[in-house]
Amino acid sequence: MTIIDKTCLFVEKKLAGDGSGHDWWHIFRVWNSAKNIAQQEGANLLIVELAALLHDIADWKFHDGDDSKGPQLAEQFLLQNNIERQVIDPVIDIVATISYKGAGVPTPMKNIEGQVVQDADRLDAIGAMGIARAFAYGGHKNRLMYHPEEKPVLHQSFEEYKKNNGHTINHFYEKLLLLKDRMNTATGKQLAEDRHSFMETYLNQFYREWDGTA
Ligand code: ADP
Ligand code: NI
Repeated sequence: MTIIDKTCLFVEKKLAGDGSGHDWWHIFRVWNSAKNIAQQEGANLLIVELAALLHDIADWKFHDGDDSKGPQLAEQFLLQNNIERQVIDPVIDIVATISYKGAGVPTPMKNIEGQVVQDADRLDAIGAMGIARAFAYGGHKNRLMYHPEEKPVLHQSFEEYKKNNGHTINHFYEKLLLLKDRMNTATGKQLAEDRHSFMETYLNQFYREWDGTA
């Protein structure tokens, strides 16, 4: 069995049953997008694939805000499988730094492999898939879909962003609609365009139906 096959099995088992939009199929889509972008951008495929597969292995949202758990688990798994440090180090660095942390918080990636995986992860947070995941996450957290009087907040720190528990439509303004301009690679930027305009169309229709005018 290849290390990629082993990683798939490990991750699939670990994320089984997740109902928050971080399930295996999110990983599967990110992995596929990441391979596609990596080929266009000439990134190291082994690092990209391992990081894409391991990137949500222990998200802070489900570990009391602890964001060191993911990289730790990823490192442990890779060491057990005798992967060399030259590959482990960039992979765990990507796992540690990939996440969105609020509208006003920059999240730069150190190398092309990180840029590719972050783009792939962000593509799955926008477009049709992103809309589905946002409402799945909101439902999982018992959030309202929308409240016309509660306005979005552009968070200036990760702490503030973590504490937020507003309705799901606000999340579009606090994250999803901002991602297009934060894509790293030319390929990622291009793929984000269609997904972004799909969300704009969706929101227009959402408000028209909310008001009873459509
Ligand atoms: P990242 O991959 O940048 O860490 P997240 O793990 O924060 O992204 O988000 C995973 C999914 O959950 C995304 O599709 C995201 O939009 C959704 N999500 C995160 N926070 C919220 C929220 N407050 N309301 C609705 N959806 C959310
Ligand atoms: Ni993810």
